[in-house]
Amino acid sequence: MRLIKDELEERVSEAMKPCAAGAGICPAIVQPATDPKFGDYQVNGVMALAKKMKTNPRNLAEEVVKNLDISDVCEPPEVAGPGFINLRLKATFVAGRLLRINKDGDGLGIDKAAEPRTVVVDFSSPNIAKQMHVGHLRSTIIGDCICRMLKFLGHKVIRQNHIGDWGTQFGMLTYYLDDLRLGKTGASYLEIPDIEEFYKEAKKLFDKDAEFARRSRECVVKLQSGEKHVLFNWQVIRKQSISYCQRLYDTLGVTLTKNDVRGESEYRDDLPEVIADLKQKGLAVESDGAICVFPPGFKNKQGEPLPFIIQKSDGAYLYATTDLAALRYRVSELKANAIIYVTDARQKQHFEMLFATARMAGWASDDIELRHVMFGSILGADGTPLKTREGENVKLKELLDEAVERAKAVVEEKNPELSAEKKDEIANAVGIGAVKYADLSNNRTSDYVFSFDKMLAMDGNTAPYMQYAYARIKSIERKARSKDVDIETELAGLESLNLTEPAELDLAKCLLRYGESIQAAAGDCRPNYLTGYLFELAQKFSGFYTNCPVLGAEPDKRPTRLLLCDLTAKTIKHGLRELLGIEVVKQM
Ligand code: ARG
Repeated sequence: MRLIKDELEERVSEAMKPCAAGAGICPAIVQPATDPKFGDYQVNGVMALAKKMKTNPRNLAEEVVKNLDISDVCEPPEVAGPGFINLRLKATFVAGRLLRINKDGDGLGIDKAAEPRTVVVDFSSPNIAKQMHVGHLRSTIIGDCICRMLKFLGHKVIRQNHIGDWGTQFGMLTYYLDDLRLGKTGASYLEIPDIEEFYKEAKKLFDKDAEFARRSRECVVKLQSGEKHVLFNWQVIRKQSISYCQRLYDTLGVTLTKNDVRGESEYRDDLPEVIADLKQKGLAVESDGAICVFPPGFKNKQGEPLPFIIQKSDGAYLYATTDLAALRYRVSELKANAIIYVTDARQKQHFEMLFATARMAGWASDDIELRHVMFGSILGADGTPLKTREGENVKLKELLDEAVERAKAVVEEKNPELSAEKKDEIANAVGIGAVKYADLSNNRTSDYVFSFDKMLAMDGNTAPYMQYAYARIKSIERKARSKDVDIETELAGLESLNLTEPAELDLAKCLLRYGESIQAAAGDCRPNYLTGYLFELAQKFSGFYTNCPVLGAEPDKRPTRLLLCDLTAKTIKHGLRELLGIEVVKQM
């Protein structure tokens, strides 16, 4: 079903045309009302048109309203303030839509994109063999949610896990693997039980043993020149690391698979060509021995042109070089219409320069969208980036384990009678869900303070609150069944609704805005728009349930209320499970 916002926008824009008197077309710009007192939607575009026409905006708005026939959708429109038009949906229109959604099947009634795009999403992308820490959490979780939303809207999504698997740390690790083998016999070295410990031990040796460090550096050169034996060791470590990451993705309920891995190493053969092409186009020049591109507009503190370095004086390639090769591949091979990079805000300038260079080189024409979706840091209680008491990076796995453990304690306390299996299922859904929801519900460009207490709270905009709202509706349904109410049959034959209570209408209107919230969240790559919507929906449901008995309702009211319960449950479940990747439970 078409979004109500789009429908209104089109009709108001039509009504504005005859009033524009040669001033050209001005979009109506319909947005959800800022305050429900004023209605449900608000037209903002008349003021801009009045400005263009140099006329009084209120009078113009009155004129537009005269032209506007939307009596099938809205109550009579009202002009307000300096020239807004306020629109309030009619209860009959709302009821009609709900009935259509009920018949539609999935209970959501959302159209797919008219023009699907191919969108490459580069996310998670850890530097492997090192431990994956909380810093990677945000990219992984936000990126996954963006993929899920775009896919649901009908776009072709290509996930790219651009892992750092060609860095200098591999010199040290491949040599360490050899070192171990010298001490042991047999093929046991193929098993690295804990890749994080492995990295730590190697790093310790690297820092204290000069000979080890020297050999390690040698190994970088050997690796990059493709020496067979070193390459073999590299493969062993790489494989172990990827498996380790995959276990975390699975725990997190993130949609990445091993097939989405396309790391830096995959582009190693393209790098000389990237340099040659840029040189040939006159874009890459030598500066202080290094090869650089100087995209216009980038200056250092002294006001001098800032170089985007693509090859060091010793011939080594950099992060930038690989990113250029990857971008080229994504446009030419993957046929991307858009590429989204999800990393922390510190890489802002890197991506600006990358995009500028790619445009200059003609590798991405203007109709290809290049977008850096950045995010802030996760902070500890003291307001500095989250660390362990020993000052080390917090390991992702330990953090998730603790979240599940804490959730389990809450379940034990609240529901001691549940089976052990049920308790584990709930603790897992709540613990992992809480960590993810906390990340997704924060405005991604801000830093946020990581707090188990806050994210596991049963009230407020948290995963447990949302999961509880869902479980509560499920318990209403269970109760109905125990009283022999056949919900499916009652809803299947529903031909009209009885929406009279303000709390019913409020909830119903909120349900109709689900599609708009997804579009806003996907359009801006801001999952918090979606969590904000779901939270509002759960609150509206709470208001409805307090004011309107469902099973005890009069027979002419009960079917409407059962439908509101059913659609609310479907929306929350879909939002949490399919779009945010958070499990729901029927009982909490
Ligand atoms: N490996 C990088 C890091 O851990 C992130 C890579 C992001 N993606 C990219 N195409 N540069 O910081």
